[in-house]
Amino acid sequence: MRTPVIETERLILRPITIDDAEAAFERWTSDPEVTRYMIYNTHRSVEDTKAWLSTVDIESDTAFDFAVCIKDEDNYMCGSCGIYYKPEIDCFSTGYNLAKDHWRKGYGTEVMTALVKFGTEVLHQRVLHSSFNKDNAVSGHVLQKCGFEITGEGKGTKLDGQTPFEFFDMRYRVPSSKETYKLYNGVEIDPVGFGTYKCDNGSVRNALDMGYRYLDTASFYYTEEVVGSEFRESGLKRGEVFIASKIWPTQFGYEQTFKAFEESVSKLGTDYLDLYLVHWPKLSARDNEWKRKLIETWKAMEKLYKDGKIKAIGVSNFLPHHIRVITENCNIKPMVDQLELHIGYMQQYAVDYCRANDIHVQAWSPVGRGRLNEDETVLKFARKYEVSPQKLMLKFLIQQGISVIPKANNPVNMKNNLDLYDFTLSDDDMSFLMSLPERGFSGEYPDLVEFEGRM
Ligand SMILES: NC(=O)c1ccc[n+]([C@@H]2O[C@H](COP(=O)([O-])OP(=O)(O)OC[C@H]3O[C@@H](n4cnc5c(N)ncnc54)[C@H](OP(=O)(O)O)[C@@H]3O)[C@@H](O)[C@H]2O)c1
Repeated sequence: MRTPVIETERLILRPITIDDAEAAFERWTSDPEVTRYMIYNTHRSVEDTKAWLSTVDIESDTAFDFAVCIKDEDNYMCGSCGIYYKPEIDCFSTGYNLAKDHWRKGYGTEVMTALVKFGTEVLHQRVLHSSFNKDNAVSGHVLQKCGFEITGEGKGTKLDGQTPFEFFDMRYRVPSSKETYKLYNGVEIDPVGFGTYKCDNGSVRNALDMGYRYLDTASFYYTEEVVGSEFRESGLKRGEVFIASKIWPTQFGYEQTFKAFEESVSKLGTDYLDLYLVHWPKLSARDNEWKRKLIETWKAMEKLYKDGKIKAIGVSNFLPHHIRVITENCNIKPMVDQLELHIGYMQQYAVDYCRANDIHVQAWSPVGRGRLNEDETVLKFARKYEVSPQKLMLKFLIQQGISVIPKANNPVNMKNNLDLYDFTLSDDDMSFLMSLPERGFSGEYPDLVEFEGRM
């Protein structure tokens, strides 16, 4: 990848040439006031710089690609800056130098803002590194203004190879996304919610304390009461927590749906649901009446939605042919489809159908309920990104705009599952993982699964 030319309001950042490097080097080193602060230069003489540039393959070398010069609106070569991959910290590092006659004009902020934008939006980095000489408070201020935080400190020597100096290490992190996904009716949902199937007492409270604001329950899980009581214990206001529940096929029918809804909200101790899902399209393959029952159920859900008792209505485990029973016979299309989705079981046909119809896709068993913990491919990619297999699996989904609802009783797992914003899977790795042969499937296929006798 070649360095793109970036134009900011007043500056142009473009790949550095030998002439640029020479001009910059002469300018910096001839001004003691500038060299006082210089910690980014890696070469001690212009010959060194030239020798280095001559080894670089301009067409392909990444180190060179991100060395750029700064030209102002008058085309004056007023500085240099760069963004380089540093293998020792496994992170891209950024920095800049400006000619003294260009200090105090806001150029530093303009350069760093452009580099951060390039690093996060073009290179898809969630974390960037920088550092500044402790004597150079202005540089530190510029970096902080651009969102960097001090994460450590160190010692080095200046260009003369002798004068010691101390520096602060800094990191920029893409803000731990307040990003939400928007349903087609405008309701917003978090990318990461908390699943409560088989959750222990105390887990919901822990999850809320750790920052989860989305709880997924269902009449089938028998966790509605515990979700309600631990939500109240948390002291959070109802409007601060998104609660989703589900109706089980034995509760289907027009009047029965109102009853099921009332039972759920009363167990939860609330008077409305943020999301109500039809848990499965049918109880078993032998149920010839499922379409009629589903239509009746959905019509009652539409009424509850119109009456404001549910903020959004959706389905779960519905394939396109199940969704069409609703869209061809009712008025309101589902807003969500919650499906079993994880690496090795992506149900791409159903996901594509939902996307084409503006139905938000949510993943249940997003970490494969433990079935993928030993999978060689998952482990290989987890090692590559230096994250746990579960973090890899969750990021793989939210990076596609699919929300996830992992369940974790272990508080460490619970916390890790929320912390997904410090790495990004490359497009090639996403493509590879999306296309893997099937693995980790629960076996619960909606048209074959047998729930007769359960609940
Ligand atoms: N709509 C549906 O039909 C349907 C079906 C199934 C599930 N769901 C919903 O989806 C939620 C999640 O699905 P799920 O419970 O089947 O499976 P899951 O979330 O994929 O897996 C849960 C298991 O993974 C472990 N785990 C989670 N995070 C981990 C981490 N960071 N490191 C190591 N282990 C980790 C948990 O261990 P610990 O508990 O020991 O931490 C637990 O054993 C459910 O709770 C439920 O709300 C919906």
